[in-house]
Amino acid sequence: THVLILAGGLSYEREVSLRSGRRVLDALRAVGVDAALSDADVTLLPRLASERPDAVIIALHGAPGEDGSLRGVLDLCGVPYVGCDARASRLAWDKPSAKAVLRESGIPTPDWVALPHDRFSELGAVAVLDRIVDRLGLPLMVKPAQGGSGLGAAVVRDAAELPAAMVGCFAYNQTALVEQYVPGVDIAVSVVDTGEGPTPLPAVEIVPQNGVYDYAARYTAGLTTWHAPARLEPKVAATVADLAVAAHSALGLRDLSRVDLVVGHDGEVRVLGVNVAPGMTETSLLPLAVGAAGLDLGKLLATLVSHAIE
Ligand code: DAL
Repeated sequence: THVLILAGGLSYEREVSLRSGRRVLDALRAVGVDAALSDADVTLLPRLASERPDAVIIALHGAPGEDGSLRGVLDLCGVPYVGCDARASRLAWDKPSAKAVLRESGIPTPDWVALPHDRFSELGAVAVLDRIVDRLGLPLMVKPAQGGSGLGAAVVRDAAELPAAMVGCFAYNQTALVEQYVPGVDIAVSVVDTGEGPTPLPAVEIVPQNGVYDYAARYTAGLTTWHAPARLEPKVAATVADLAVAAHSALGLRDLSRVDLVVGHDGEVRVLGVNVAPGMTETSLLPLAVGAAGLDLGKLLATLVSHAIE
């Protein structure tokens, strides 16, 4: 079996993606799988035609790996890949759309407003922001409607901080997602399906040293402490796992995903979002969960590849 891993691309998460790609390459080769790494640029179509991989693993974070477009191209070329299809990927990638589906499915997610930049300018920033604070209260979380790795995201505890947070967010995306910030314990649950249905891996608890799980905290060794499995009461741990699988299924995901949740200080669990191309770096959450489950990343990916080819 020959596996082509796609990593890099031109998204804001290029560097992270290259690290994920190398980790996946090493993990597969360590278990004897013939694998190669490629960027997702103009060489992609000729490379697919000449190399004829049996399957692709998408380690591309951001567009085009997560927005459905690359998956559409692979479908067109008849190349199997690990992960969900183009439609589900596009849905999950757009945070407001994904949250709407979660809510319709009865899965708790913090209240939110999606605000396109045009509307923000047209209506006057101050009036819009006042209205958002009236509706959602404080604190708030501002993040790009599409994007990852905490880029352009900010917690707003005081209304005076909101304009700068919005401007920072619009630097990354045309639309901002403003949601109620739920203070509590951040948790990530990876969901894998090797043919027996979506199965949650042990929940990972995220404790960033400076309190914010931003880009630096995600990718700099030593800036975040993880507990895998998370230190949760058994009942809460069961709810977290159930909600992660419910979110994965509600969004029509496949093979593997990572669901990000928060266990609020009020004891309620809420789903924040899902990732269809979860990070695979040395400090990423899915590989940690795989280790906590006593599994080997390379073997798991090899099984997912076999499943994709079937
Ligand atoms: N977007 C990054 C890679 C993640 O969610 O893991």
